[in-house]
Amino acid sequence: MSRRDALAFLSTTGIAALLPRQLDLLSRAFASSPLRVNGARLNDRLGALAAFGKNAQGGVTRVAYSDADRQAREWTLSLMRDAGLQTEVDAAGNLIGRRAGRDDARKPILFGSHIDSVPEGGNYDGDVGSLSAIEVAKALQESGTQTRHPLEVVIFQNEEGGLIGSRAISGELAAKELALISQSGKSIGEGITFIGGDLTRLESVKRSKGDIAAYVEVHIEQGGTLERTKTDIGVVEGIVGIDRWDVTVEGFANHAGTTPMDQRHDAMLSAARFTLAVNRIVTSIPGRQVGTIGRIAAFPGAPNVIPGKVVLTLELRDLDAAKIRRLFDRIVAESKAIGAENGTTFAFNETNVHLPALTDHRIQAAIMRASHDLRLSTRIMPSGAGHDAQSMARLGPAGMIFVPSVGGISHSPKEFSRPEDIENGANVLLQTLLALDADFE
Ligand code: GLV
Ligand code: MN
Ligand code: MN
Repeated sequence: MSRRDALAFLSTTGIAALLPRQLDLLSRAFASSPLRVNGARLNDRLGALAAFGKNAQGGVTRVAYSDADRQAREWTLSLMRDAGLQTEVDAAGNLIGRRAGRDDARKPILFGSHIDSVPEGGNYDGDVGSLSAIEVAKALQESGTQTRHPLEVVIFQNEEGGLIGSRAISGELAAKELALISQSGKSIGEGITFIGGDLTRLESVKRSKGDIAAYVEVHIEQGGTLERTKTDIGVVEGIVGIDRWDVTVEGFANHAGTTPMDQRHDAMLSAARFTLAVNRIVTSIPGRQVGTIGRIAAFPGAPNVIPGKVVLTLELRDLDAAKIRRLFDRIVAESKAIGAENGTTFAFNETNVHLPALTDHRIQAAIMRASHDLRLSTRIMPSGAGHDAQSMARLGPAGMIFVPSVGGISHSPKEFSRPEDIENGANVLLQTLLALDADFE
């Protein structure tokens, strides 16, 4: 029965006038594609991906540019080929798999995620979206479905180290970032070469605003809201902005036994006060903003030497970029006061800026419709984690589909999402893509 037939049939019953919303949902259910992903295959493959970089805690350490990352990428490329995608490692090291459209001159619809992890990470962050994207391509291949738009599955490189691959595509990756040292110990530039990219052609991967028809990404929620509210699917309304700085505190290294307490220029003491100040400032106003000191190192780093230098990271996140700026200004002012107390200085080097990104309303609606057709409950929500979708939102309409994270745990070996939730997420992706393919230019 077509959507029009369904409407005609139901309107003769008289129900239509009473329940327009339900009628719309019902009629769309008749119209939506019966195509489904193979959930067992998707979940088996997730298990197989977890072998690359497996650690004793049951998660993975598969930081970008490590041997484990490179091996996992090879394996993932083989799945992309198996799904009939025309694969390429672009000059920035992203894995791209293309599928021709009926009208191949149209702008492509992109979908994907990442497979690199944080140190001691889990088996779901990035992996679920990456393998769901490949599973969707496989389902289209097996059913012989050809879309109007060309499709591109993109597995972005080094998401965890600052959306490196996706920002190379959106043109936001600054040349100076290539010299930054990544979690693998290699500089980002060395890492890109290591995974098969080509620094001399980095510019070639850049795309411009308007170059893509849409981007959609499935991801685990990484928080506990969906599980707590017993909701199947999160429809992401926006992704927080993230700013990161390396903060260097300079004091004076001196003997820890002979230097009286009132004559020290202790960089560690200032760093400790600074850490407390960041927490106080970030929590001093209402809102969902967060601030974190995630890494700290003291130099020269000996029990009997007062630290002359401390280097730490500061990270601030919020949906409002201006609010991040205001918080940062207050933090800098406070650092000057802290330094004045014991003769230390603070220097801030901004290493990473990801602007907040709102998702596209039409894609939100398509995700909601697809979920309702699949009898899945939805909830509109922000994303407190950064995602490659943020970079893609600079190029065209973007959307994100969240699936529940058990216990809201992520960036941990204890990260877990149930197989049925993962299958649901992939089916919502499939139906959303088909709807966008039909409706978008
Ligand atoms: C990525 O996972 C981030 O939000 O840091
Ligand atoms: Mn992720
Ligand atoms: Mn992550």
